[in-house]
Amino acid sequence: MNELLSQLHKERMDRTEKFRNIVIDNHIFEILEKPGAAVGSKLWIGGEELSIFLHRNPELIQGKSILELGAGVGLVSIVCSLFSDRVICSDKGEVLEIARENIRRNRNSAQVLEYGWSENSVGIFDVIVGSDIVYYDHDFVPLYQALMANSRVGTIFILSYRDRLYSMLDFFPLLKNDFVVREERKITNESYVYIYERVGRET
Ligand SMILES: C[S@@+](CC[C@H](N)C(=O)[O-])C[C@H]1O[C@@H](n2cnc3c(N)ncnc32)[C@H](O)[C@@H]1O
Repeated sequence: MNELLSQLHKERMDRTEKFRNIVIDNHIFEILEKPGAAVGSKLWIGGEELSIFLHRNPELIQGKSILELGAGVGLVSIVCSLFSDRVICSDKGEVLEIARENIRRNRNSAQVLEYGWSENSVGIFDVIVGSDIVYYDHDFVPLYQALMANSRVGTIFILSYRDRLYSMLDFFPLLKNDFVVREERKITNESYVYIYERVGRET
């Protein structure tokens, strides 16, 4: 029975596999997606918007050590790797295989790492990036902990975010303890890129 179910699951995943060409300025990225396989197995609009934003503002990431949280299909990490050879593309579960394939396909140097937000630090980074990662309220505290564990005072956190009232109410107040907004870019009526910097707490 289990075998039958996993066969059906595999067939369903195979059916939905598709490639998209994402054009950002002078670059074409070929991106594999498997919509329906997992939440991050398709490219979210926030991922596309953050990729465009970083491609057009490379001074934010040039030569920096970069950690992407909740990378999904990996496009943001792929773009970061055009400007830095120290990029970790992290997520958890089956999306990692898709990210790995996309990095290989685009001849990219980002390093794929399985990392859940409740886990210990994987390093201290100059920049942490994330797109469309603020949506489940049970993940807000782990996400905040992951930001703290992998940063130092001065680390920049670049988040592309789609407006959702509850995350506005519950997530951003958490961040305020240790991060200040250095810049807010409105991308569309409902999406933003926020640039935060980790600051020392006042004692
Ligand atoms: C909405 S998807 C966005 C994917 C990608 N950033 C994009 O914009 O296309 C959210 C991603 O966060 C990851 N994620 C959610 N909770 C997580 C956790 N606790 N630890 C690690 N990754 C997590 C999911 O696996 C998923 O790939």
